[in-house]
Amino acid sequence: MSKMSFPALRMRRLRRTAAIRDMVAEVKLSASDLVYPLFVREGRQIRNEVESMPGIYQLSPDCLLPVVEQVVKAGIRAVLFFGIPAVKDERGSGAYDEEGIVQRTVRMVKREFPDLVVITDVCLCEYTSHGHCGLVEAGQVLNDPSLELLARTAVSHARAGADIVAPSDMMDGRVGAIRKALDQEGYADTAIMAYSAKYASAFYGPFREAAGSAPQFGDRSSYQMDPRASITQAIQEGELDIAEGADIVMVKPALAYLDVVARFKEKFLCPVAAYNVSGEYAMVKAAAARGWLDERRVVMELMYGLKRAGCDLIITYHAPEVARWLKDI
Ligand code: PBG
Repeated sequence: MSKMSFPALRMRRLRRTAAIRDMVAEVKLSASDLVYPLFVREGRQIRNEVESMPGIYQLSPDCLLPVVEQVVKAGIRAVLFFGIPAVKDERGSGAYDEEGIVQRTVRMVKREFPDLVVITDVCLCEYTSHGHCGLVEAGQVLNDPSLELLARTAVSHARAGADIVAPSDMMDGRVGAIRKALDQEGYADTAIMAYSAKYASAFYGPFREAAGSAPQFGDRSSYQMDPRASITQAIQEGELDIAEGADIVMVKPALAYLDVVARFKEKFLCPVAAYNVSGEYAMVKAAAARGWLDERRVVMELMYGLKRAGCDLIITYHAPEVARWLKDI
């Protein structure tokens, strides 16, 4: 077949009117692609705005339901909970406490909004005094001993009613340990969304303020991926997680790792998610506040970029605004 070229081929023909452009816009985004992260904090009457994330709040459980209601009204189908406990300890016991902040929140939200998909972040870093995602001994983050605690955390979330658990710790073998524990405890239907290619990223800066989870010594580069690592390492991470029972694989952060999203989508049969993280949100908000960017257009462009790269799901702090913009309100 001979290749069409100008003047037989004119790309502008299909750009001529808004209706034609809509017809051939093949990349689709809908509110059901979006997941909204929420920070729940132990206490009462707390509604602390995160300084570096305008519009994002730490909320105590009594202040949470009206926010969830607004989010559901905007058309969002799924939320992702992070917990901020009153006390932290060496072993992060608040993470797997049946009466912990996330466990109580999930029960409350599921009671009021049974159809909302509740996803929980499974990690220890918000609950440990040292701020690392696993157990620490002699300055080292231990892998295998951390697995049991992560599995207990996931089971307690499932018991509270979580639909999907999302391990973000990056310990080796955690997806397998969680799947096994869930199945043993009767939660075979609870899904796992694995933070598979999670990089040791500077884009998490604002999150650590939001969740109060900065490591007290060192950094996370002995367990999270090196931003310089090859794509094959990301694929290995994804393959391991799928082999261990992940139902959804995630790439995090999103914007600097779109190549990873595209490769995951091409390689794996399961849905692919990307986490448009706190620093990515903060950059847009900061520039928009100065009038340097048109926020709505920039955010939508990023969302479509993520969809085109291959994201089935986008976890984003912009979710409720995007859902409203999709309805043009
Ligand atoms: C914790 C966790 C982090 C994020 C999600 N889960 C922070 C980290 O790994 O340091 C980051 C989310 C964001 O920046 O929006 N395990």
